[in-house]
Amino acid sequence: MSRRAFMLHSIAAAGVLAASAAPLGVALAQHPAPGASPVDAGKASTAEGDIHIANIEQLEEEARRILPPGRFAFMGPAGDGWTYRENRRAFSDYLLMPRRLQDVAAESIDLRTRLLGLDLSLPVFTAPTGAQGMIHVNAEIPNARGTGQAGALFVASGASSRPMEEIAQATPAPKWFQIYMNRDMAINRWLVQRARAAGYSAIVLTADALGPGQSDEFIRLGRPFPPDFSAGNHDPALGGRGNFRDQRRNLSFNDIGFLREASGLPVVVKGVVHPQDIRECLSAGASCIWVSNHGGRQMDGVPASISLLRRAVDTVEGRVPVVLDSGIRRGIDVIKALSLGATAVAIGRPALWGLAVGGAAGVKGVYSQLATEMRAAMLLMGVAKVSQFNRTHIA
Ligand SMILES: Cc1cc2nc3c(=O)[nH]c(=O)nc-3n(C[C@H](O)[C@H](O)[C@H](O)COP(=O)(O)O)c2cc1C
Repeated sequence: MSRRAFMLHSIAAAGVLAASAAPLGVALAQHPAPGASPVDAGKASTAEGDIHIANIEQLEEEARRILPPGRFAFMGPAGDGWTYRENRRAFSDYLLMPRRLQDVAAESIDLRTRLLGLDLSLPVFTAPTGAQGMIHVNAEIPNARGTGQAGALFVASGASSRPMEEIAQATPAPKWFQIYMNRDMAINRWLVQRARAAGYSAIVLTADALGPGQSDEFIRLGRPFPPDFSAGNHDPALGGRGNFRDQRRNLSFNDIGFLREASGLPVVVKGVVHPQDIRECLSAGASCIWVSNHGGRQMDGVPASISLLRRAVDTVEGRVPVVLDSGIRRGIDVIKALSLGATAVAIGRPALWGLAVGGAAGVKGVYSQLATEMRAAMLLMGVAKVSQFNRTHIA
């Protein structure tokens, strides 16, 4: 396979994930329909600067305006988008129960959070999203930098456009590395050992992305990946084998022990929701459970993450932290998740929209928007510290 063909194949995993070992060229040839040609990928954003928004949803509209259609569609939902919409709607199933006369001063409101031994400025962090070169010319670098400037944890995707070492250098703040398992266990070992050497403090095993995660709109537009696209963590010296070219889809609970042993780091399992699976992850040594449906980008027709959080927290019984993503757009969404028992929540698309609209400053702006909303809501909830939220704060 030529270098370019390999790279095109590799980026399929960037949230697209090669469905089989067949070269992506084959998949590309199937879309769009014969005779049609893919839309021009256009250019990724070069933006760098403060964002001016009153809420995160306005940022989505700004990002849609800035990015070429195919690049925006790259972030789209799977199938009919039912789960994607449900991820937002289901927050309305939980209403907040404020406490009054609690003698909470605005200055005393404290968003600091501890997660797996890390001290974080707030209980929100950046979820792994692959191929950020689709969004910004500097790909993951400004996202990591803006996240770090906010004092938040950055999770680098195994399918990043830039090498994990470069991403790590962009921020002194805490980082985790997310892996898509390769069929070759030596490559998995090599990846997690690189992550440890680069300063990542945990490995995230994504359990809910085993095949293509493209939106209908992205497919309709012909999967417009730019021709010069590269896969950051692949080492061409490995002779054409990439970290996700041969993605292993038959994951098992044994992979948790393997990753722990190979990396010497705690393992977070992302995308497990069934109580039995959660119990097995804990028995296998998982250090954190991440309730997620991949932002509705993988399997349509599953419940919203927030709808499954309470059961996950009850299953875990405090043995390890539980984190949640999918649909977080408001400070009150964070507060609802904390009240149901999450230690922290992650944002995927909001960080990408911030990246598109303002680079590192845009990502930092997303965090300051969420922090401002959280502070205002905590004052009105009569709660000074994030660790004080509990189920009595849900009506
Ligand atoms: C464009 C895109 C790419 C993604 N790539 C990855 C990935 O490489 N690894 C992963 O574990 N999750 C990936 N995700 C899922 C996110 O980590 C996260 O679960 C999701 O975006 C959360 O939902 P939200 O976008 O509503 O915040 C991706 C999501 C998007 C939108």
